[in-house]
Amino acid sequence: MALMTWKDAFKCGNPSVDHEHEVLINLINEMHGKAGADCSPDGAEDVIKQYLGEIHALIEAHFALEEKIMRDIGFKGYAAHKEDHGKLLDEIRDIMESVTGDSWEDYEKDLAKSMSRWFGVHFATYDRDFHSAHSG
Ligand SMILES: [Fe+2]
Ligand SMILES: [Fe+2]
Repeated sequence: MALMTWKDAFKCGNPSVDHEHEVLINLINEMHGKAGADCSPDGAEDVIKQYLGEIHALIEAHFALEEKIMRDIGFKGYAAHKEDHGKLLDEIRDIMESVTGDSWEDYEKDLAKSMSRWFGVHFATYDRDFHSAHSG
């Protein structure tokens, strides 16, 4: 089962950015599926940590790209936007640090909850403002 489902509430209104966000969510779901399949009781902790590390890297790369564009265009809301990116990355780190071998289901509930909540707000507010400034 997918970790997160793309929903209209995630939309920021710019079709190509929405598409990019959708691709990001699909990649997260793909990794989630692979980690679930590889996850044996013995190797759970390593698999989960590696998987969370990959998700963190993927999201970090997307954020780095947005932050570069913001710096290039001298976007006023840069600091606040960057700070909000940092919050999600910290949350994923916290979940990563709390993983123990037998917490697969708990960790994944936490991850799905915190990412859906965060994406639902961030995409529709911070990303919408920045991408409309960028394209307009
Ligand atoms: Fe974004
Ligand atoms: Fe963003």
